Amino acid sequence: MSTRTNIHKAVFPVAGLGTRFLPATKAQPKEMLPVVDKPLIQYAVEEAYAAGIRHMVFVTGRNKRAIEDHFDTAYELESELEANGKHELLELVRSLSPQDMDCSFVRQPRSLGLGHAVLCAQPIVGDEPFAVLLADDLMTGADGRPGVLTQMVEVFAQVQSSVLAVQEVPLEHVRRYGIVAGDAAGERLVKVSAMVEKPAPENAPSRLGVAGRYILTPTVFDRIRNQPRGSGGEIQLTDGIAQLIATEGVHAYRYEGKRYDCGSKEGFLEATVEFALKHAEVGADFRAYLRQLKLD
Ligand code: G1P
Repeated sequence: MSTRTNIHKAVFPVAGLGTRFLPATKAQPKEMLPVVDKPLIQYAVEEAYAAGIRHMVFVTGRNKRAIEDHFDTAYELESELEANGKHELLELVRSLSPQDMDCSFVRQPRSLGLGHAVLCAQPIVGDEPFAVLLADDLMTGADGRPGVLTQMVEVFAQVQSSVLAVQEVPLEHVRRYGIVAGDAAGERLVKVSAMVEKPAPENAPSRLGVAGRYILTPTVFDRIRNQPRGSGGEIQLTDGIAQLIATEGVHAYRYEGKRYDCGSKEGFLEATVEFALKHAEVGADFRAYLRQLKLD
């Protein structure tokens, strides 16, 4: 797969309060919680960069300064590392914001929902298709294969309509997701005919749940702007996308790879263990450590 793309911008809604991780998130953004040694937001930004995207748009809220600082130059730290001859660490720190990457920050002044957060990015995104990545969902491609957003950029190039990453979820979990239904349109593709946010199991049109990766056409902004509040009294992204089904068409893509729900403690711990096992520096020792644990 090539990384050439006509998707230039990625939106990262990062204004959420992260109440599920209190007290860790009392004074720091949940997106800065590290899995091994990298904050969640960095995994998502790297996934977008690998997909060829060079303009990252963060929709932030109060107490999110750490995210801006993370992608900014840290002069003091850099000169300290340089003076101490720590060149590898210096390279690591500098690589967080490559020269060809732009970052924009826009505030979501009120917590009105994910759809509203995405709408806040409209003045920066403008009239072009764009990606949305929810950093809570840590996504990896299959071993040695392209990342999930890279796969979706390729799909978008073929279908030229909004593309949603989906996976089968257990029936008892459908109320945690946007759920889509439709007809097969290829090996991994579904042409969406219905989409609903967090349905009760008895109302779910299928078990295909949307993961936190989207490529959307800019038409969605006007739909979101004019829609009533939805599930949970919030302005839902799902409702805006659902309105595109009849006009432009929407595709769901069964991504190749794995999703860790780092918005939950269980998912976060699973990611931590699996990423630690694969980590170049600590992986082997950590494996040996896990082996000798007496678990019953
Ligand atoms: C959001 C979306 C939902 C999607 C989910 C993926 O929900 O509203 O449609 O399936 O992300 O993680 P949240 O997890 O923010 O409640």
